[in-house]
Amino acid sequence: MSRRKDNHVRQYGDFQTPSELAVRVCARLRLMGVKPSAILEPTCGRGSFLMAAAAAFPDVKDILGVDINARYVAEARGICGGRARVEQGDFFRTDWPRILGRGGGNWLVLGNPPWVTNAELGLLNSTNLPAKSNFQGHRGLDALTGKANFDISEWMVLQQVGWLRERHGWIAMLVKIAVARKILRQVWTWGEPVGRATIVGVDAMHHFGAAVDACLLVLPVQSSQPSRNCDVFDNLEDLEPMGTLGYHDGILISDVDAFMGWRHLLGFNGDYVWRSGIKHDCAKVMDLTRSRSGGFVNGLGKVVAVEDTYLFPMLKSSDVAKEKQCSNRMMIVPQQEIGEDTSHIQRDAPRTWAYLCAHGEQLGGRKSVIYRGKPRFSIFGVGDYTFAPWKVAVSGFYKVPRFIKIGPMGGKPVVFDDTVYFLPCRSEDEADFVHGLVQSIPYSQLLHGMIFAAEKRPITAEVLRCVSLERVADELGLGDQYATFIRRRPEPQMELALGL
Ligand SMILES: C[S@@+](CC[C@H](N)C(=O)[O-])C[C@H]1O[C@@H](n2cnc3c(N)ncnc32)[C@H](O)[C@@H]1O
Repeated sequence: MSRRKDNHVRQYGDFQTPSELAVRVCARLRLMGVKPSAILEPTCGRGSFLMAAAAAFPDVKDILGVDINARYVAEARGICGGRARVEQGDFFRTDWPRILGRGGGNWLVLGNPPWVTNAELGLLNSTNLPAKSNFQGHRGLDALTGKANFDISEWMVLQQVGWLRERHGWIAMLVKIAVARKILRQVWTWGEPVGRATIVGVDAMHHFGAAVDACLLVLPVQSSQPSRNCDVFDNLEDLEPMGTLGYHDGILISDVDAFMGWRHLLGFNGDYVWRSGIKHDCAKVMDLTRSRSGGFVNGLGKVVAVEDTYLFPMLKSSDVAKEKQCSNRMMIVPQQEIGEDTSHIQRDAPRTWAYLCAHGEQLGGRKSVIYRGKPRFSIFGVGDYTFAPWKVAVSGFYKVPRFIKIGPMGGKPVVFDDTVYFLPCRSEDEADFVHGLVQSIPYSQLLHGMIFAAEKRPITAEVLRCVSLERVADELGLGDQYATFIRRRPEPQMELALGL
C-alpha cells in the first residue's frame, strides 16, 4: 500500500466490510427479532451494509447511507440502485436529529464506524475528530495520563445512543471488543435506557486482515425491558451464549453468574487497601541490575556506584507472575512519600545525588505532567505502605491472578514497579493470613467474575479494591483471626480510610 493511501486508510479508519459479512450480520439481526421501520448507516462507505439491510428487511422503505468520501458515496449509490438514499456528509457536522426526525420510529442504526483513536489522529495531524470533549468524564490523574484516549467509534456509537434516546431502535455496529465494553460501561453508568445487549465475535483477521478482537455490538435503545446485561456469543452462527457480562453494584462484570454467587463479599474496607508499585517513568536510570562482580549496572549499560541508603530490592511484574522470591534488581527510591523534598540526598548519600544529577536531563524530561512542579527526581506510588516488610502482591498483566507472599530481602523491604498491586503487611503471619484469603475459592471466583482476561491489564487496583477482605474472612469462618490482625495494626490513616 502506498504511504498516501495508508495515511488515508488510517485517518478515516477505512476498513470496508465485505458484503458476505454484512449479509451474515443482517441475518443475525433478523434472527434476534430486530424489526426496523427505518435504517441508517452513518459511515456507509461503499454500501455493503445498505445492500445487505435492504435485502434482509425488504419492507423498510426509508434506508439512508452517509459517508464523507465522495467516491464511496458514488459507488454506494451505484450498487443500491434506488433502494437506499446515499448522501455525502461528515459525521461530526451532520444534523442527525433532524435526519432521524424525518423517519418513523424503530430505527436500526447499523454499520462499521472508523477504526482509529483520537491519539492516532493526533499523530497524523488529522481533523477527522469530534470537538474536544472529555466525554468519559475522566478526572485528575487519569485525564492527565491518557485514560482519556478514545476510539472514534466509541464516541460515534455513544452519539447514536443519544439520537435514539428520544426515539426507539437498535444500534448494530462492528467495533473492537474493547470498544464495545467501553460503550457498555458508559451507557450503563450513565443509566441510558438500553435493553439487553449482545456481543457476537467476528474474525477481524479473516474479514479485514486486521489483528484486533472485533465484534458485532447490538444495543436496543429505549427498550421496554431495560437491562444491564450483555450476552456474549463466540460467532455469528452460535445460538448459545458463552457467558454474560453486565454492570452491577457499580462494577463492570465479566461473568455475571460467577459474580452473583459472591457479590455479598463486595465492599470497601480501609484495613487492607490495595496499592500499586512505584511509578517513576525512568527505568533506565532508576532500576539497577546486580552485575557478576557485585556492582550495579543501569539500563543504559553503565556501571553505577551509589550508596545503599536509597536502594531497595525490586521485583518486576514478570517476576511476581513467576512467583520469584529473589531478585538481582534494585530500585533507587529517593522519596518516602509523594512530594517529599529530595535535596537532603546531597548530604545523606552524595554519590546517589551525583548519579541522579548526572541523569537530571532524563529525569527532568519525563513527559507525564504529574512530575511538573514536583521536587527533583520525584516518584509516585510511594508512601508508608512501600516500606512495609511483608507484602502480598499480584501482577496486573496476567489473565489468571497469581498472588505471592513476599518478605524482606537483605534486610530491606521489596518494592515493585507500577504494574504490580500489593497489600502491605506487618509480619509474616499476617502476610500468610492475607495470602490465604486472596487465594480462597470465594475470593478467586468473585475476582474471576470481575476480570476481563482480554484486557491489556486485566487486574487493576480498582477491581481489587472492590472486595472486602473482612467479608471474605467472615465467609471462611476466619473473622476472629482477621480481627486479631486488625487490632495489632496502627489506626488507618485518613488517606488509607479514603482509599487514596
Ligand atoms: C471502517 S469503514 C466502514 C465503511 C462501511 N461502514 C462498511 O461497513 O463497509 C469507515 C468508513 O467511515 C467513513 N468515515 C470516516 N470518517 C468519517 C466522517 N467524519 N464522516 C462520515 N464518514 C466517515 C470512511 O470513509 C469509511 O468509509
